[in-house]
Amino acid sequence: MTRDFVEDELSKNSVFKSEHYLSIDYVPDRLPHRDEELRTLAQSFKSLISSPGRTSRKFIIEGSVGTGKTAVTKKFTEQLIQAADRRGIRLHKIHINCRVNKSVYLVFLRILREFKPNFPRRGHSPEEVLQMIVEVLDHEDRFLLLILDELDYFIRNKGVDIIYDLTRLMDDRLNAPQRVSMIGIGRSIPLTDDLFDSSTLSTLQRNVLRFEKYSAVALADILRERIKMAFEKGAVLTDTVDVICDIAAERGDARYAIELLWRAGKQADHEQNEVVIPDYVRRAKADTHPELINEVFTTLPLHHKLLLLATARRLKEARAAYVTMGEVEDEYHPVCEEYKTEPRAHTQVWEWVQDLTAHDILDTKRSSTGQRGQTTLIGLSEIPADKLEQFIQDLLIQGGK
Ligand SMILES: Nc1ncnc2c1ncn2[C@@H]1O[C@H](COP(=O)(O)OP(=O)(O)O)[C@@H](O)[C@H]1O
Ligand SMILES: [Mg+2]
Repeated sequence: MTRDFVEDELSKNSVFKSEHYLSIDYVPDRLPHRDEELRTLAQSFKSLISSPGRTSRKFIIEGSVGTGKTAVTKKFTEQLIQAADRRGIRLHKIHINCRVNKSVYLVFLRILREFKPNFPRRGHSPEEVLQMIVEVLDHEDRFLLLILDELDYFIRNKGVDIIYDLTRLMDDRLNAPQRVSMIGIGRSIPLTDDLFDSSTLSTLQRNVLRFEKYSAVALADILRERIKMAFEKGAVLTDTVDVICDIAAERGDARYAIELLWRAGKQADHEQNEVVIPDYVRRAKADTHPELINEVFTTLPLHHKLLLLATARRLKEARAAYVTMGEVEDEYHPVCEEYKTEPRAHTQVWEWVQDLTAHDILDTKRSSTGQRGQTTLIGLSEIPADKLEQFIQDLLIQGGK
């Protein structure tokens, strides 16, 4: 008789108690080593509650990947909204990932739909939509705290219009209640005088909060809290935590640390070991690349993924740092066939290449003339081609395509 593999699997033990505490979206109750930042935000925004309508706040949060920008902002806005609710102030927050909402119009539409869910998508300019947002807020006596997350990607692609529109909106309302405040989040937001007029610039510059990278000690504190929630007691050795923190401290990246912890746990389960030993972390590190944990990949549309897969394969085969746009397109066609979808036209593909470059996934440059004629050369910014290939193939399988 064939072994019952299903029962086999079900009878296995796991080092995990509740794996979901390690997922990317989970925001824990406590955020060690970010009290200062939370306090600064509370000080800056308390006037939204102590004297609603009197002022509007614009704030920028900068810091590299995994420094807790999104988590801290979510925790802070949650507390702020609760404080407003307790005082009967109709303060509303909207957390927008600007990478997913592709234009100023779409960002504003997304905000308007928060209040008018069925508002149709057609025929309005961004300014008109913004005006309608203000009208709704006035009409319903609401206040809005707008979080523009991943704003730097957006600015690199679309310029600073969005900040400009929003700040002008706030500044123009001198004699009416100030209804909209904003927190912009990004790795670094270009605050330069060719982009902003001097008064906007000086307000923004006064309100920049930088999140420093986490030290190994800070990462250990963060991990210890997660381990208590996610793992069986005693399942993760202290040495294992140390190895993770040493690796992740190079980037100061809590997301990478948590990912390594989760993968090491998976490895323990795979080997049916009831403890997570340091060696599993080393293996987890070899299996992945810190850039691949970037949330960007999970939000990429199908054809972006296919194009990346094509690029990775071509680069791997060529064993070169760069290949030409033409070579990537040659590879893109069979990849589309493999995944049973129609390849798109050159101009479209070209736009995706620029998208992926703006996301820092691809690295593109113009070739020097002569060598291959003037053409665009495409490389990968940080990720080794074979790891990217494997990763995208896995993503395509998980996504059902
Ligand atoms: N101080 C902290 N305490 C606990 N978890 C944290 C802390 N900072 C970050 N994290 C966790 O690390 C991961 C990355 O944080 P995130 O806020 O997404 O970083 P960023 O937005 O700066 O890239 C998330 O899972 C988050 O919950
Ligand atoms: Mg973030």
